[in-house]
Amino acid sequence: MNAPLPVDVLRQHLIDPEICIRCNTCEETCPVDAITHDSNNYVVDPDICNGCMACVPPCPTGSIDNWRLMVRSEAYSVQEQLGWEELPKEKSLPTPAVESDVLAPAADAALPASAPGVAATFTPAGASVPPWSAAHPYVNLYTHKTPMTANVVGNYRVTGADTESDIHHIVLDFGELPFPVLEGQSIGILPPGLDAQGRPHHARQYSLASPRDGERAGYNNLSLTVKRVTEDHGGAAAHGVCSNYLCDLAKNDTVQVIGPFGHTFLMPNHPRANLIMICTGTGSAPMRAMTERYRRRIDTGENGKLMLFFGARTERELPYFGPLMKLPRDFIDINLALSREAGQPKRYVQDLIRDRAEQVCALLADRNTCIYVCGLKGMEVGVLDALRDVTMQSGQDWSILHDVLRREGRLHFETY
Ligand code: A2P
Repeated sequence: MNAPLPVDVLRQHLIDPEICIRCNTCEETCPVDAITHDSNNYVVDPDICNGCMACVPPCPTGSIDNWRLMVRSEAYSVQEQLGWEELPKEKSLPTPAVESDVLAPAADAALPASAPGVAATFTPAGASVPPWSAAHPYVNLYTHKTPMTANVVGNYRVTGADTESDIHHIVLDFGELPFPVLEGQSIGILPPGLDAQGRPHHARQYSLASPRDGERAGYNNLSLTVKRVTEDHGGAAAHGVCSNYLCDLAKNDTVQVIGPFGHTFLMPNHPRANLIMICTGTGSAPMRAMTERYRRRIDTGENGKLMLFFGARTERELPYFGPLMKLPRDFIDINLALSREAGQPKRYVQDLIRDRAEQVCALLADRNTCIYVCGLKGMEVGVLDALRDVTMQSGQDWSILHDVLRREGRLHFETY
């Protein structure tokens, strides 16, 4: 008599709109397409999410890792979430709740949940942990609510002036304020002005192109590699709000910055670690940061090998071509894949990985080797296929090696 009615409880997965930098990583990662977005927010559909946690490790900000115990019939709908400017306060549940449908706590939630027809496991192509020796990253020190102001101290074009690819090297200085970063991390830039809905623009994310001790060693500054966006992925004319803002900045302008972000795409910190770096276009930013970290300690004898595969349309459209080619050949093994160079066959980075199979396999066989892939989304599959082919040719089992590389935080992707 008077026994409490059973309540169907859901552990609802939410994304914090105040921290999210709208990088699309979660939507791309979700194996069941539970994540969607509009021009305001990225949100999780409570009717589809199975709590598999696949989206949580890749999120650079941690904004994805928010959960609310909700009466299922009162779960926040996609429409409601799209309108949020901040997460709602926790609600208390009617007591006692019947626990049969409460999902496990975060640590256990990778277990397959109740959604029908959902694959029990999801294996991303890259690692969701950093290399074992990576230094400790700081994340989210500055947020949408508490951005920091940086000073522009440099803005230079790093591609041929006569080419379509207008790529800039932009240097930001933080003055006295702390902004600790590691190679492979990114920051968010808040462009000024309002979007079509009259709301402040959300942040755009850019990878650092400079190492942890500054664009200029010992200075509290960093650099970004930004391509001016003038068309969308389909080739139609489009005006990139933040890229155009950044590429047009003048010295002494100020910029609102949030971050830093990223806790997995980090370089190993132990002596004699080897890096295989594979990139296209502005995906060269983290590779420049890591290469520069190695270059600054070239005389210590601590460096492992560096092997770079870099794709661009032509030499003149390859950012940092001049400085890159000046690096000593015994310091870095440079492989340029040019796709539209007159009089040359079209080459992609994956073609060059195959050409250099022997050297790639030798590095892969060394547990001190980490692989970083950054740039166009389309190259992800091509690079994985090339790595599979070269390891299989050398008599190794790619599926075993791929698993080891992921588990040990030695294979990282950042594509867009
Ligand atoms: P393409 O000439 O076929 O576009 P972008 O200049 O657009 O940023 O591209 C950088 C380089 O990446 C270009 O050489 C481009 O070649 C190349 N690329 C395009 N798609 C792929 C892919 N699927 N895999 C590897 N490289 C690619």
